[in-house]
Amino acid sequence: MRLTVFGTGYLGATHAACMAELGHEVLGVDVDPDKIAALRAGRVPFYEPGLEELLVKHTASGRLRFTTSYEEAAAFGQVHFVCVGTPQRADSGAADLRHVDAVVDGLRAHLGDAPALVVGKSTVPVGTAGRLAERLEGKAELAWNPEFLREGFAVQDTLRPDRLVLGVRSKPAEALLREVYAPVIDAGTPVVTADFPTAELVKTAANAFLATKISFINAMAEVCEATGADVSVLARAIGHDERIGSRFLRAGIGFGGGCLPKDIRAFAARAEELGTGRSLAFLREVDAINLRRRERTVELSRELCDGSLEGKRVAVLGAAFKPDSDDIRDSPALDIACRIHLQGGEVTVFDPEAMDNARKAYPALDYAVSAPDAVRGADLVLHLTEWPQFAALDPAELAAATVRPRIIDGRGFLDGARWAAAGWEFRALGRPAQPRQERP
Ligand code: UDX
Repeated sequence: MRLTVFGTGYLGATHAACMAELGHEVLGVDVDPDKIAALRAGRVPFYEPGLEELLVKHTASGRLRFTTSYEEAAAFGQVHFVCVGTPQRADSGAADLRHVDAVVDGLRAHLGDAPALVVGKSTVPVGTAGRLAERLEGKAELAWNPEFLREGFAVQDTLRPDRLVLGVRSKPAEALLREVYAPVIDAGTPVVTADFPTAELVKTAANAFLATKISFINAMAEVCEATGADVSVLARAIGHDERIGSRFLRAGIGFGGGCLPKDIRAFAARAEELGTGRSLAFLREVDAINLRRRERTVELSRELCDGSLEGKRVAVLGAAFKPDSDDIRDSPALDIACRIHLQGGEVTVFDPEAMDNARKAYPALDYAVSAPDAVRGADLVLHLTEWPQFAALDPAELAAATVRPRIIDGRGFLDGARWAAAGWEFRALGRPAQPRQERP
């Protein structure tokens, strides 16, 4: 089939490459000529494991091309996917739909008489699909097919998703989408068909649930801190109950990134507009718990630095909002780094992939070339993104390079006993202090 994909960010670039992998002829469209030039040259402008290989493979095979021309796209495609961003508005928690609207209007202006299906994948407030369908009336049919991909697993989540949600208003639209995804469906992926509002809500509800799960365990971490209990043991124990499950129960500095924080705010804002604000009032608390964990980390850092961060050298391991990503949007790690910097700390950051993005966004922080380089001469080390290479560091070697070996594990990921045995004062959010052992 001939498909177009509007927007070539995390979602669109991945979707375009994966659709080519499924055997379709794909044209990726973006208004940013630099992005299009990079993609044409086989370069992914962000870090996503496995994506560049697919891009190179399919730009070479000719199945995947890129353009900035809406006219070309409208003439090319039978199915048009809308994959542009819906960021948080500057003046409220609501979603900014400018890009989605611009794609639909731009495409509409160039569509001819051939039948076309426009498929929304962007995360939007419930009610958007209905509104867009009206705008397209007489020109194209609309369907809503939300994405659920996680950064770092985007290719896998697109080619082997947990489920496909097809928000459709007609049998032919459903049949066309089933044809697009035929290899994925044949591989056993469950398909849920729904009306527009349900399809839109599936996405926001899923993200709200995940954010709530993380904030739930972080609220437990707060209670653990007040009682001397250990949240990691608590999480393990409750996670054995299959109804609860152990995934997304890792306490720490909380969630960040381009999706969960903005999506729960937009969802709550939309509920207010719909007159059902009380139903989602708890999401404000989910957000507040999440942000409190960042404050707590700064507070604990200050405590460990004898009451003041002024002039203290603080090594921050991690800048990305999670491992296997170079995305620093709403990164808890960099938020904490900046707050410590504002309190007079001398912060040195290292991240395996997100250095360029971090440097551009926060030029006032210092940056190291490696984790040991960041830790050299530190009064305090903060482990804030759980890259596997940080867990593999040798604590004894690092201890020798610090002024005082003190570490806060903000991700509950390091082996505290091992670090304590190497002479570190080891603290983790929601857990009792590890008794420090003499340096061997
Ligand atoms: C999320 C959803 O998982 C995905 O389905 C949706 O389509 C987009 O938003 P993503 O933003 O890529 O994906 O990240 P995710 O893996 O969900 O992690 C989000 C944040 O939560 C990260 O900052 C992560 O570090 C944090 N997190 C995750 C925790 O603090 N604890 C956990 O137990 C799990």
